Amino acid sequence: MDIFETIQGRKSIRRFKQTPVLDEDLNKILDAGRWAPSANNTQPWSFIVIKDRAMLKAMATAVREMIDRMTPFAESEKQAQRLTAYKSNYYTFFENAPVVIAVCMEAYDAGTDRLLAKMGYSAEDIKRLRPLPGLQSVSAAVQNMLLAIHALGYGSCWMTGPLVAQEAFEKILGFGKEKCISALLPVGVPDENPPVRNRKALEEIVRLIG
Ligand SMILES: Cc1cc2nc3c(=O)[nH]c(=O)nc-3n(C[C@H](O)[C@H](O)[C@H](O)COP(=O)(O)O)c2cc1C
Repeated sequence: MDIFETIQGRKSIRRFKQTPVLDEDLNKILDAGRWAPSANNTQPWSFIVIKDRAMLKAMATAVREMIDRMTPFAESEKQAQRLTAYKSNYYTFFENAPVVIAVCMEAYDAGTDRLLAKMGYSAEDIKRLRPLPGLQSVSAAVQNMLLAIHALGYGSCWMTGPLVAQEAFEKILGFGKEKCISALLPVGVPDENPPVRNRKALEEIVRLIG
């Protein structure tokens, strides 16, 4: 598949067939993540591959429980309705995928940021000057994997919604404060063909200088 076809053909898939994902394909997907660029080549990522149904159910249950706790704080009726949709689908559908990759971000030691802090820049200023190099690195790995997943004939969806239950995931998956999950990627053969989501026109987002 041509790279541009792969980029434009990928779309978020939220319904999966129960057909297993082949181990050799899973390895290719994880390897695509490994080859992403990263700040200072720190490679601040690791991947937890979850096929265990009970564990995936426990994770989805933790997300539902967290949404239940959030709902009384909803700021409008519309937001409360959105939370209901997140609970029943958008934050929890990963539990039905044959495999879920939890993409973890390790702590990123940004020496340059420490120097900026010593020079008097606030944490907020530094975030604006150099927005989260560790997270940017992990995001490159995520997109590499999404493209590999699509090129191999599977579907996925970049999910950060479920991370409202990050604290529960720490316990269920057994990791500590040294890392956090930055995204969940459910993987499986698509059981839907959703319409392509629109994109802003290039003229709207590109500013040419020179
Ligand atoms: C950082 C990030 C987080 C996302 N989190 C979720 C999520 O939790 N649940 C979900 O259903 N979709 C999630 N999405 C998918 C977006 O809704 C989707 O990418 C967007 O609507 C564009 O559609 P497309 O991926 O089909 O092109 C997320 C996407 C990104 C990039």
